[in-house]
Amino acid sequence: MNGSNRPVALVTGASSGIGAALAREFARHGHDLVLSARSVAPMETLAAELRELGAEATVIGTDLAEPGSAARLVTALETRGIGIEVLVNNAGLGAMGRFARISAGRNAEMLQVNIVALTELTQALLPAMLARRRGKIMLVASTASFLPVPNMAVYGATKAFVRSFGEALAEELKGSGVTVNVLCPGVTATNFFEAAGGSALSSLQTQRMMSAEAVAKIGREGLTRGERVTVAGLMNRLLAFAAIHTPHFLTLPAAARMMAQD
Ligand SMILES: NC(=O)c1ccc[n+]([C@@H]2O[C@H](COP(=O)([O-])OP(=O)(O)OC[C@H]3O[C@@H](n4cnc5c(N)ncnc54)[C@H](OP(=O)(O)O)[C@@H]3O)[C@@H](O)[C@H]2O)c1
Repeated sequence: MNGSNRPVALVTGASSGIGAALAREFARHGHDLVLSARSVAPMETLAAELRELGAEATVIGTDLAEPGSAARLVTALETRGIGIEVLVNNAGLGAMGRFARISAGRNAEMLQVNIVALTELTQALLPAMLARRRGKIMLVASTASFLPVPNMAVYGATKAFVRSFGEALAEELKGSGVTVNVLCPGVTATNFFEAAGGSALSSLQTQRMMSAEAVAKIGREGLTRGERVTVAGLMNRLLAFAAIHTPHFLTLPAAARMMAQD
């Protein structure tokens, strides 16, 4: 049980990248943290750093690609007597390349982590937030949620799910004391592209890459303001606007070229 009066934020995918940066942001802004991902060692290092900032930090190793893992994570929280006020569903993975060449196993992993575990965790932790009439949920989607993404087809579709689900849930929860924020980063300098099997990013993508720290700051501020959708950075907001308002027959060939791996 956390001994402080600080609200507790659970961050999934906290072992690297945007999740680790979000954990630091929440610790600096008065939260205790629960960190969850598969890689325990980097989270233990991060937890020690967060304790230096005055936060309590608990590490729970979880593989969210395993069916039933979200329920096991919630049981682990209950066993420790930890109540969650801020749920940050950040864990996610991609796969770059043509759909026909991506393994069924990788696609299943993406669907399980990006969609199923995110939905199950939200469903499991929401009732206590509603009972308290207080809580915040962040769902990390992507600018990829604004248009179909050839050469990253399943990933783009998972992020479209996340944004659709998050915006609908935000509307349902209006007036309940629980708010939902969908954070949409654009290209961000993390392990993501290497893990997604990307061989190369275009120079345009590399040039407009944001840092995980900048994305996390914008995301936490958006969540705090009660924004429903936060697109990180001016260039990404312009791209999202263009993606929404331009016909797909123009945007999809451009997106395919941008994501082409061969
Ligand atoms: N980087 C970008 O350009 C970008 C753009 C838009 C959106 N996003 C989204 O931002 C989120 C964070 O990604 P990132 O860019 O920070 O990439 P990252 O550095 O690769 O971080 C991904 C995180 O997800 C965790 N994760 C992956 N598979 C998992 C599993 N099976 N079970 C539990 N945790 C798992 C990883 O931890 P372990 O490997 O230790 O399990 C890691 O902590 C993702 O949802 C991603 O889709 C990224």
